This record gives sequence, C-alpha cells and structure tokens, in this order.
Amino acid sequence: MTLTGNVALVTGASRGIGAAVAKALAAQGAAVAVNYFGSEAAARGVVAEIQAAGGRALAVKADARDQVQVEALAATVKAELGPIGILVLNASIGFPMAGILEYPWEAFQAKLLGELGAAFHGCRAVAPQMLERKGGSIVAITSGLARNPGWGFCAHSAAKAGLEGFVRALAFELGPMGIRVNAVAPGLTLTDATANIPEKHKQAAAAQAPLRRNGQAEDVAEAVVGILQAGFVTGATLPVNGGSHVF
Ligand SMILES: NC(=O)c1ccc[n+]([C@@H]2O[C@H](COP(=O)([O-])OP(=O)(O)OC[C@H]3O[C@@H](n4cnc5c(N)ncnc54)[C@H](OP(=O)(O)O)[C@@H]3O)[C@@H](O)[C@H]2O)c1
Repeated sequence: MTLTGNVALVTGASRGIGAAVAKALAAQGAAVAVNYFGSEAAARGVVAEIQAAGGRALAVKADARDQVQVEALAATVKAELGPIGILVLNASIGFPMAGILEYPWEAFQAKLLGELGAAFHGCRAVAPQMLERKGGSIVAITSGLARNPGWGFCAHSAAKAGLEGFVRALAFELGPMGIRVNAVAPGLTLTDATANIPEKHKQAAAAQAPLRRNGQAEDVAEAVVGILQAGFVTGATLPVNGGSHVF
C-alpha cells in the first residue's frame, strides 16, 4: 500500500504516540489530519512541524467518543484533504487505576464505552470514504495489557481486548471490500500517559525486555507505518514491546 498521496486521519494526535504516527505518515507522503481534544496548541505544533517539512496537515478538534463530532471530523477532513484512506484509532481514553474490589462501575463503563465507541464511530464515519477510494486501511492502537494483565488495569485490559475483537470482526467483514484492519499493541511507551510511573518500574521493565529499553512513541509509529504498508496483512495484532512478552 502506498502512503504517498493518501489521506490519513489520526485520532488523538496532538501528543504522544498519535503525534509520532502523524509525523511518520506525513514523512511517507500522506496528507494527515491531526485530531485533538483539549490540546489545540500542541496539535497546531504537530501540523506546523509537518508543514515545515513540506507535508500537508490539518488540525481538527473532536471528542473521539462522540458520534456527531466524529462524523463532522470525517466530513471536514474529506472536504479539506480528500477522502480518507488511512484511519489510526489512537485517542487515549482515560481510566482510574484500581483493583476490582474498589473499581467504580461508572468508571469501568465509561472506559469500555469510550474506547469501543471511539472505534465504532471512527470506523462508521470513515469506511464509506474508504469504499469511495476502493480500499483503505485501519489501525487500532490497542495495548499489551489486552493479553497480559497488570494490577489496576482491569478496565483498560477489558477495553483493549474488546478493541482487538472489534479489529478482527471488521477485518473479516471489510476485507472483501478492500479494507484492511489491524491492531498495533504497544508495551510500556514513554509518553505523558506513563510520566507518573516511577523510574524504578520503567527500569525494571526495560531490564526484563530482550531489547533492554522502554518503548518510544516513534517505535510505535514505525510499526504503524509497517503494518499499513503490508498489503496482505489483516486481522493481525502486532506487539511493539521490545520482546517483553516472548516468555
Ligand atoms: N503509553 C503507553 O505506554 C501505551 C501503551 C499501550 C497502549 N497505549 C495506547 O496508545 C494510545 C496513545 O497513548 P499515549 O501514551 O500516546 O497517550 P498521551 O501521550 O496521553 O496522549 C493522549 C492523546 O489522546 C488524545 N485524547 C484523549 N482523549 C481524547 C478524546 N476523547 N478524543 C480525541 N482525542 C483524545 C489527547 O488529545 P488532547 O491532548 O488534545 O486532549 C492526546 O493527543 C492510547 O490508545 C493508549 O491506550 C499507550
């Protein structure tokens, strides 16, 4: 699949993994819509960086969990950049960390609805544009925690496991229409989302990984570009964790 001349929408691209993915796709020649929720200045910074390097980009505000806003987002991107051929579902849906015995049901529900709603609304809004282009590719950023548990992550693990199931279901359904759907599952990656994890935990994770370091947002972006370019791969989950869970 060629990225040059394609149009990509990356949700939650103002910071972290999404920002790195947006820049990597632009470096491959795609026009990129940088979706943001609260960080307008950061999103505009990502766009400016892409434009300074000679690329095309646009910052668009939308809450990825909201159907109406996501439909408007997809319509704006089509009007400004052209029909979307690449969708990266990356927006980070927050959650409290707590054990199951203390976990508030409302927070559990909000995480599941937010994560799966963002994926559902994104795919529903963008798939028709992909059909117009006679093909496309969707990548959902899931997590190693979908398969390997960690204390306090029950909502996140359940939501990301659900997202992986959604990816496989859509790969089955949309494949005959020329749309591939895959997941990229990062392990611990150094972004704002992990800034509060104590340094000794990060070092322990790095020491236990065969590649002996923590992940960077750019490592995940490289994997997203790779799976987008792999034209016969669909329904797959690609772990990006330095080999952390090989044993
Ligand atoms: N970091 C890790 O270790 C790790 C590991 C596995 C999986 N992941 C997954 O990777 C993805 C990105 O995480 P990250 O670490 O890069 O997070 P991050 O640095 O905290 O950035 C989060 C991004 O998501 C956006 N966002 C949050 N709520 C949104 C909403 N309702 N609608 C649209 N955008 C929204 C934020 O936009 P604004 O700032 O504009 O609000 C920001 O751009 C997430 O899906 C996360 O679960 C991360």
